[in-house]
Amino acid sequence: MRYASFVSELAASGSDAWALHSRAQERQQAGDPVIVLSVGDPDFETPAGIVQACKDALDAGATKYSLAGGIADLTGAVARNESARLGMTVAPSEIVVTSGAQNALYVTMRCLLEPGDEAILLAPPYVMFDGVVRSSGATPVHVPLRGDAGFTIDADALEAAITPRTRVVLMNSPHNPSGAVAPPETVRRVLEICRRNDIWLISDEVYADLCFETSFDSPIAMEGGRDCTVVIRSMSKSHAMSGWRVGWIVGPADLCAHARNLLNNIQYGGSAFIQHAAAHALLNENDALTAMKDAYKARREILVQYLSGLPGVDILRPDAGIFCLLHVGGLGMDGSTFAERLFEAQDVSVLAGGAFGPALRDHVRISLCQPEPVLIEAATRIRAFIGGLKETTAA
Ligand SMILES: Cc1ncc(COP(=O)(O)O)c(C=O)c1O
Repeated sequence: MRYASFVSELAASGSDAWALHSRAQERQQAGDPVIVLSVGDPDFETPAGIVQACKDALDAGATKYSLAGGIADLTGAVARNESARLGMTVAPSEIVVTSGAQNALYVTMRCLLEPGDEAILLAPPYVMFDGVVRSSGATPVHVPLRGDAGFTIDADALEAAITPRTRVVLMNSPHNPSGAVAPPETVRRVLEICRRNDIWLISDEVYADLCFETSFDSPIAMEGGRDCTVVIRSMSKSHAMSGWRVGWIVGPADLCAHARNLLNNIQYGGSAFIQHAAAHALLNENDALTAMKDAYKARREILVQYLSGLPGVDILRPDAGIFCLLHVGGLGMDGSTFAERLFEAQDVSVLAGGAFGPALRDHVRISLCQPEPVLIEAATRIRAFIGGLKETTAA
């Protein structure tokens, strides 16, 4: 029997880098003293008030079909929060609630792209971006971020990559995996390029609530941004709710109407009791969000402090998010070899940068999703591993 051709392409786009993560998880579950820093799943419990709101909603009978694109309580809460964050009035009609940002990305791409179209991704892109573009039959075109300059966007290179087939630019700031935040003047330039060329700008702002010093200025709130920008958001990281699967799209009302129709065909509405909890979180749990952000910031300091000044490696200090990138090329090995050998020697799993494409071949991504004492132990082991390499080379 035949399958649609895109499903085999999707299967082939998986990366070996995740195999180490799976091994680490298996060994951890078997009781070995493994520290898993290879994934970005918040270690914090979902705040108790959110869990209670979910239980209350279940008790109140929110267990039936719900409206595709979000119950009114949640779209109202999102509208309130996004209006405050973006400094502009966002109406519920400009919001579509999805099953996490991943679902929001998929729905957006399906609404905007078709076979023959091109989507520009700023590389290294978040690992799932290629797949969502390919799922719509379109072709991803990678434009490198400037790795030599803190993973900043090269707007000239972006403009040069535009062809008559380009329909979408997909931007992710704060950026996974580097944690870089694009400055407003760069975002404005990207927006101008998109407007001039009649191209949609998709702005993945999943980490926007986790900016440590600077905030991220969204293109949707900039002059001319409203008509052509689609913002992708999630509660997975900011509220430690990865398993609840809540995210949303902010975009023009027409696009949102299409997205709701599509969602009706995909899922026929999300879980109402989860959405009640999400609405509670957005309206009442800001303190919990701030506390988690402060914790990630403190963890960043720890990693940067422990891994700075070591021979052969270079730690990139992230502006936001839940990861640090470590360049390991100076040790004479790529990220994949480093990750394998570190795991063998010290039982610490990190993600080889190759998972994000060839630009990060010589990097590893280290997650901040462990409590401070565990992170300190992991950083101590990483130091010991690197120190051991130096001794082996010297011997
Ligand atoms: C940049 C980026 N976008 C989207 C997602 C998907 O998030 P969600 O859990 O909301 O589907 C992630 C998750 O790691 C991410 O890092």
